[in-house]
Order: sequence, then structure tokens, then C-alpha cells
Amino acid sequence: MSVVKENAAMAALEFVESGMTLGLGSGSTAEIFIEALGDRVAGGMKIVAVPTSKRTAECAIEAGVPLAEPDKVDRINLTIDGADEVDPAFNLIKGGGACLLREKIIAHASDRMIVIVDGTKMVEMLGAFPLPIEVDPFGMALTAEQVFDALKTTGCEEAQTVLRQMKDGSGPLITDGGNYILDSKCRKIPNPADTALALSQIPGVMEHGLFIDLADVIVVGEADHARVIELARD
Ligand code: A5P
Repeated sequence: MSVVKENAAMAALEFVESGMTLGLGSGSTAEIFIEALGDRVAGGMKIVAVPTSKRTAECAIEAGVPLAEPDKVDRINLTIDGADEVDPAFNLIKGGGACLLREKIIAHASDRMIVIVDGTKMVEMLGAFPLPIEVDPFGMALTAEQVFDALKTTGCEEAQTVLRQMKDGSGPLITDGGNYILDSKCRKIPNPADTALALSQIPGVMEHGLFIDLADVIVVGEADHARVIELARD
């Protein structure tokens, strides 16, 4: 287990209080958090959690974290999730694990979002990590053309897009929601809010991996501690 990811996960655990409804993110850092949360639950902490992917649900069950269906909760107090990139304004790229649609549904419905990362995820400008975009398989090539235009017109340095494949080569990756993922190599996304808006207006785009104005706290794991950075919102 990565020590820096573990330090980030353990620091995020300090924000969790008994009685909370939590959103559980996806990815390797979130899974370390879920395991540690399971220990707290075993020690008597009373929480219920909504998972953002089938894989996260499996991890939570294994760790003994009680789960709730998203439609059975009326609010989510706090979501803890990883990210692929974080910029100085706390804008994120997410979706490296192909869970971005459900991650964004849960983050958007949460009172607060804490992002747990290692230092390599902190960047001056988003875009080196290919931007994941979840699209309906129907008319995917037409959607990809519109994605290209949206990226170029909002100032992205590049806009080359590839359809994500299964690791075993068996065909396109299918998300938990039954969609495809386009990965767009933008290199630089200088206007993330404009790019997010342009992508949201394309009917075939189910959701994109730009998380704008959603993260409240970034916890950066280091070798022997974690840095907690809180954004002061107006
Ligand atoms: C899942 O779809 C992603 O958004 C993850 O949150 C992101 O890829 C971070 O994953 P790691 O914690 O494994 O780096």
C-alpha cells in the first residue's frame, strides 16, 4: 500500500463524524480510505455510505461499511474521493477509473467534498492527464467530432480523442452506466469552466471529467504526514 495515499486517506478520516451520510469515491486512494473507514465502523462509528461505482460498493462491503442506495438518502454530508489532477483553484480532472458520471452525481449532491491525492496530482494547469468524457455509444463518432470542436474553441492546446478500450483487448470499455469513455489529450486546458460548459452542451456527452467548484478540501499525502488545504469560498 502506498504510504502517501494512506496518509491522505487517514487525514481525510478526521473529517468524518458519527451520524454522517458519506459519498464514497472510486480509485486506489478511495479504496484505502474505505478500508480505514471500515475499521472505524468496527469500532462503533455510525455512518452510512453511498458508493460511486460497483467496485467501490464491493470494497465497502468487504470492509464492513454500511451502504445505502442513492435514492434512499435525502442528503449526503460529505464525499471523499480521489482525483487525477487538481489545479490551484481546486478544479479537478477525474475519471481515470471510468467512474466519473456516478462520482459527479454524488459529489454534486454532497454538502462537502474532500479530495485525497498524492503530490503528483497537483498541477498548475489541468490537461496533461487525458480528459475522460463519458458518452452514449449511440452516435459516438458524431459526438467525438463535437467534443473536438468544444475543446478547440475553448482554448485547449490539443484535442486528440481516443475511445478507451478494455485492458484485455476485448473491445471498448463499458462504464457502470453502460456508456463509453473518450479520453481527450488536451495537454493544456486554460479555461476549465468554459470547456466544462461547452462539453455539457453536447447531447451525446453523458458527463465529463472536469469537476469545477465541487472540491472544498484537498488532502495531499506526503511521506510522513498529509497537507490539508481548504478553499475559502465566498
Ligand atoms: C475514478 O474514476 C477516478 O476519478 C479516480 O478518482 C481517480 O482516477 C484517482 O484514482 P487513484 O486514487 O487510483 O489515483
